[in-house]
Amino acid sequence: MNQSQLKRLVGTAALEHVRPDSIIGVGTGSTVNCFIEALINSGIRIEAAVSSSEATSVLLRAGGIEVVDLNQTGGLDVYIDGADEFDAHRRLVKGGGGALTREKIVAAASKTFVCIADQTKRVNVLGAFPLPLEVIPLARSLVARKMVALGGRPQWREGFTTDNGNWILDIHNLDLVDPVRMEKTINNLAGVVTCGLFALRPADLVLIATEDGVEQL
Ligand code: 5RP
Repeated sequence: MNQSQLKRLVGTAALEHVRPDSIIGVGTGSTVNCFIEALINSGIRIEAAVSSSEATSVLLRAGGIEVVDLNQTGGLDVYIDGADEFDAHRRLVKGGGGALTREKIVAAASKTFVCIADQTKRVNVLGAFPLPLEVIPLARSLVARKMVALGGRPQWREGFTTDNGNWILDIHNLDLVDPVRMEKTINNLAGVVTCGLFALRPADLVLIATEDGVEQL
């Protein structure tokens, strides 16, 4: 199976976690797009969705799914989203698509965060994928210098603006052996809106698409 087939497989497997008539949280990315397609084709009727990005909202609405604001819904039962990397403790690196801030908010508002990924995203230690940080534009250089001091090599995702009007720094070569500590450290830097580490609030379940089917972690 190629990676697109694996993404479709795990996107469909996530349907098991969707309760009819509920309001669910929906993440961002190509794996989530497979989930959205599977949801639309499944005939499962949900009341509405809280979306983590403008791109996801467009797809949901095109499929006839109402998109509602998190301020209207209160807590959610389930949030379905992808990841760029996951480890054995279900800690994640996210934000490859630049939607990390809203993703972190919707994950925080959800009882169960179901992460959907294919086997290529599994790592022993997080950090091979550059860690995205959403930063206030004014603080780009300041945060970049702080990240160099922490051992990283920041790269500005030039030309990209987040849905919140901010910029992204992708941090290469960062030592993420202790991701909880690093997430706390980065969260404390002035000018950082969100760090793409999901270690303080990891996924509750990771569905992993493999050649032999879908595994659960
Ligand atoms: C977007 C994300 C995505 O979940 C992550 O980048 C994985 O994307 P894909 O499913 O396309 O591989 O965090 O901000």
